[in-house]
Amino acid sequence: MKPILSHLECAACGATGDAFAPATVCVKCNKPLLVRYDLERARAALRPDRLSGRRSDLWRYREVLPVCAENEIVSLGEGWTPLLAAPRLAARAGLRRVFIKEEGQNPTGSFKARGMAAAVSALVRLQIKNAYVPSAGNAAGALAAYGARAGINITIAMPRDTPEPNILECRAAGASVHLIEGLIGDCGKFLRERFAGARDAMELSTLREPYRVEGKKTMLYELYEQLQFDLPDVIIYPTGGGTGIVGMAKAYDEMTALRFAPPKRPRFVVVQSEGCAPIVRAFQSGATEAKPIANAQTIASGLRVPSAIGDFIILRALRESGGTALTVTDDEILREMGVATRDTGVLFSPEGAAASVAARTLAKNGWIAPDDRVVIFNTGSGLKYPEAARAAIEFK
Ligand SMILES: Cc1ncc(COP(=O)(O)O)c(C=O)c1O
Repeated sequence: MKPILSHLECAACGATGDAFAPATVCVKCNKPLLVRYDLERARAALRPDRLSGRRSDLWRYREVLPVCAENEIVSLGEGWTPLLAAPRLAARAGLRRVFIKEEGQNPTGSFKARGMAAAVSALVRLQIKNAYVPSAGNAAGALAAYGARAGINITIAMPRDTPEPNILECRAAGASVHLIEGLIGDCGKFLRERFAGARDAMELSTLREPYRVEGKKTMLYELYEQLQFDLPDVIIYPTGGGTGIVGMAKAYDEMTALRFAPPKRPRFVVVQSEGCAPIVRAFQSGATEAKPIANAQTIASGLRVPSAIGDFIILRALRESGGTALTVTDDEILREMGVATRDTGVLFSPEGAAASVAARTLAKNGWIAPDDRVVIFNTGSGLKYPEAARAAIEFK
């Protein structure tokens, strides 16, 4: 049978590429490639009313994921995370319908598991045995775990001050770990030099390969099912390299083509930290691309991404959805880790806390209406940040 997986397409110039050969970025313009499917064919099998008996992980949406056979799937049970009503957090913001999408319950404790499950499965399909990634921490932990699961050799580079649980989980899973003075961009440079000319190793940096976004996009498919075949009015996402927003915007377009999205697109909100906010600055100035940030600093290590190759896609997704972008300070994040955790019982990460602060700010200034249905993404478990968690407990 012909696979539903069809081809790759550049998000900037529209050039097409082969989804059945290893690929990184567009050979014509060096911008990110996106995976395309034969959605006409997917539509026959992927019907919302027929999903209920499927497996309870992200592979329930298999027709729109980049594998061709069951035995290519590398899974640790990622996805299908809880969507939890948060009435006390809602009341604190003067809202009525706030939900937490609890991504901390993914394998390796963050939403990065979704992307790496899809990317490592694609590596298995392409028969690639070595992979490497520069990371702010959670992507590295996820790749190390899925690499171990698939028997693929993994090399990681992370900033030296990455939270210790991220370093430990990579080493525990047998990855080769390099701690670099500098930020994620420096880690990428280090690995690209190290692997220059290596033909048998694949780089899995954010949006420098097409497959991680495919795992991330399932977050929107899940929201649709969990909200009884509807979507929220507002989705608040802590954003670094932007795969969450890029993935969910892609999912919306696919769901429309599959004829199962409701007509209204959720308004996306990008939240970044005051100390590293390239996308917010670009959004506010009306730019279509972001300028790199010098001396980026924030306690939310996942948001410490001074320059994103997918900047133009994130900004496009924000504007198409009627969304917005805003910053929060590290002090607000620390305070909110405590407040949001006490209000919900969910152990908030600094990144999730940033999204929670943003919900309140936007409710206060009227951008979110009291009756809007709002989803805050807690993208990782607070357990992965012992230092920030300690500082949050002691924060006055
Ligand atoms: C917990 C957490 N939240 C959010 C992000 C930002 O994700 P992205 O880089 O896909 O925008 C990261 C990235 O490392 C993260 O670890």
